[in-house]
Amino acid sequence: MWSDLELRFVLTGDNELLKTDTMATTTIYVALALCCAIEAIHLNYRTNPSHFLLDNPSLHLSGPGAAFARVAAFGPQPARLAVNGFGPTIDPAHYGPTTSFSNPPPPLGAGQDPATQTCGLSPPFCAKSRYRAIDGSCNNLEQPSLGMPQTPYGRLAPYNYADGVSAMTLSSSGRPLPNPRDISLRLFPDRQLIDPIWNLNTQQWGQIITHDMSLTAGVVQSHKELVTCCDDNGRLTPDVTSNPVCAPLLIPPNDPIHGPQGTQCMNFVRTGTTRDRGCTSPFEPAEPITTVTAYMDLSMVYGSSQGQANPIRAFQGGRLLTNVRGGREWPPQDPNVTITCESAQAPTEPCYLTGDIRVNQNPQLTVLQVILMREHNRIADGLAKLNPHWNDETIYQEARRIHIAEIQHINYYEYLPILLGFENMVKNKLIYPGAHGYVNDYNPGVDPSVLDEHATAAFRHFHTLIRGYLKLISENRRTVGTVRMSDWFNRPLLLELDNAFDHLARGLATQEQDFSDQFWDSEITQFLFKRNNTFGGDLRATDIQRGRDHGLGTYSATRAACGLPEPQTFDDMLDFISKENVNVLKNLYETPQDVELVVAGSLERNVPGAQAGPTYLCILTEQFYRTRVGDRYFYENGADPDTAFTPSQLDTIRKGSSMARLLCDNGDNIRVMQPRAFQQISHGNKVVPCDQLPFVDLTLWQDARGHF
Ligand code: HEM
Repeated sequence: MWSDLELRFVLTGDNELLKTDTMATTTIYVALALCCAIEAIHLNYRTNPSHFLLDNPSLHLSGPGAAFARVAAFGPQPARLAVNGFGPTIDPAHYGPTTSFSNPPPPLGAGQDPATQTCGLSPPFCAKSRYRAIDGSCNNLEQPSLGMPQTPYGRLAPYNYADGVSAMTLSSSGRPLPNPRDISLRLFPDRQLIDPIWNLNTQQWGQIITHDMSLTAGVVQSHKELVTCCDDNGRLTPDVTSNPVCAPLLIPPNDPIHGPQGTQCMNFVRTGTTRDRGCTSPFEPAEPITTVTAYMDLSMVYGSSQGQANPIRAFQGGRLLTNVRGGREWPPQDPNVTITCESAQAPTEPCYLTGDIRVNQNPQLTVLQVILMREHNRIADGLAKLNPHWNDETIYQEARRIHIAEIQHINYYEYLPILLGFENMVKNKLIYPGAHGYVNDYNPGVDPSVLDEHATAAFRHFHTLIRGYLKLISENRRTVGTVRMSDWFNRPLLLELDNAFDHLARGLATQEQDFSDQFWDSEITQFLFKRNNTFGGDLRATDIQRGRDHGLGTYSATRAACGLPEPQTFDDMLDFISKENVNVLKNLYETPQDVELVVAGSLERNVPGAQAGPTYLCILTEQFYRTRVGDRYFYENGADPDTAFTPSQLDTIRKGSSMARLLCDNGDNIRVMQPRAFQQISHGNKVVPCDQLPFVDLTLWQDARGHF
């Protein structure tokens, strides 16, 4: 029998892999002979996961963990409303014209953005609005601050701070947990095993969704941390002992990369919490704060506050502000180029300003941000032509509303099934394939906040999908170049060089993503944000440290919260984790109960049809259920006629929104694309002319209701 690893290796059919892997040559030939047959099975399983998930009697998951495939066993669940397209209609009168709340915000002027000094500014009242507020307020009319920026992450498992309040997690014995960099080196090395089905777009879109949903308070990513606990030369600074937010990653002496350089540390600054801001008592656990709206509302395009939204609006024709260079539209220039795009070599270099500070972080992320900005303007221009009497505000809001609906549709029906499994999503009421009309499943009792287990562990697992070298692909789908990611962190200049923008965009749709496994690309574990240095940071070690910083519940506690079997011994983990990995865990941790979620969750075997193991799948499923059902403005919700799309508008959003169309419509000159643009080009997914792809028919917004 082949191991998982061997199978994946064979499925890639990549000669480079054959060269670098140590598998015996004879095994390779035997493997290749069987490759086609297996690939056919694999393809079928990936494209029709439902055939394989629960109904396939030959695919049994062993041991007490078998229940995980159902992924329904979360802790207490909010009641799910009846949904069949004709769910209960909420009386619009329920929303009332205004609702009063008792805690008015502090006066403006106390600081640049008073919200950053608080733990969520509850609005003084909620005006009934057809459009979602830019800061997510009043989406939930009963608790108007739910999902707002500057509020704490949600939680499934109890906090696990060493002192019960805020000190970073330790082993249950009180001794330090294993060194995060050591864990990264031992359990998450680089091994180029690529995905046989899904392309780089799948990886990159995940970061887009991430940036829509959360941003840890104080983490900048776009430039150097504001506090230096470890300096540019990898030396500890005096702040380490004096500044309580310092928790630098220490380099073990035997580190093969950083050891010989004499590097002592990597910088790490602790997340801002409710405790730092005086919102929780000194005896309660500090709650880490997220600084963008939790809703899937394209906050990374539009901003999470009025202060972010206004500078990027044109205030003309409903458009977002752009700079035209080379006949193409780019986002406006960030006023602080040398800080925001620290790798820029001149203040005149492109450095973009959008709704999210992370926009310039890596080239492919920036490509998608530009695509989304252009999509807003494409819709706005269409609406303006159809409705010349609409003013700027109406066009902006209507375009934003349609845009968010398109992206929610792509996220739920095209993207998330790849990660979460189609069948799993249907079963848990995250999607309603084939639904006609509305899906009225909004539930004001559901908190849409982003779970810390999601943002700090489960969704970060998909850092594993990253490829360090990005292909530049021409219109006839040939590779015309390759760029190294770490050469272009926080330097979006690349996009504007010749035809790099389209080349990168086609690269997203053409290049394979990395496989969802324990192997991480060294561009992000050895070279992250390397700037002018030879080596850089380690994202895996950072993720592990962030889990401790947030006092995340252990692996075992989180499994318990998910209703999954709790491993009492290391050997109990063998149900989900390979023997080799369990042996390393045994070696690293004092007890099975000390094993961390961020570590063991990423070692679990993927649930068939999904890209994560059972524990992460539980978290992801719960998160995206809450994100949907806790959003009063979710595009499929038709309960309130003032916020709902008309049935025909909803229909065209469902039929016409696709990743392929987004790339076609907003590239500089992309004329062909495969219809399923998260999937690699294949016999069943050939490129077709863009104009053959379905599209959202904007004529349905021509004075659709006589007024807006
Ligand atoms: C080249 C691509 C990427 C780079 C360089 C990158 C880098 C980073 C960095 C530096 C952080 C903050 C680390 C910390 O200090 O705690 C972060 C956070 C995160 N990343 Fe990535 N990332 C990438 C792609 C992705 C992808 C593809 C996903 C998911 C599919 C993802 C999900 C997340 C999540 C959920 C967080 C936490 C967000 C929060 O602040 O709440 N990232 N990433």
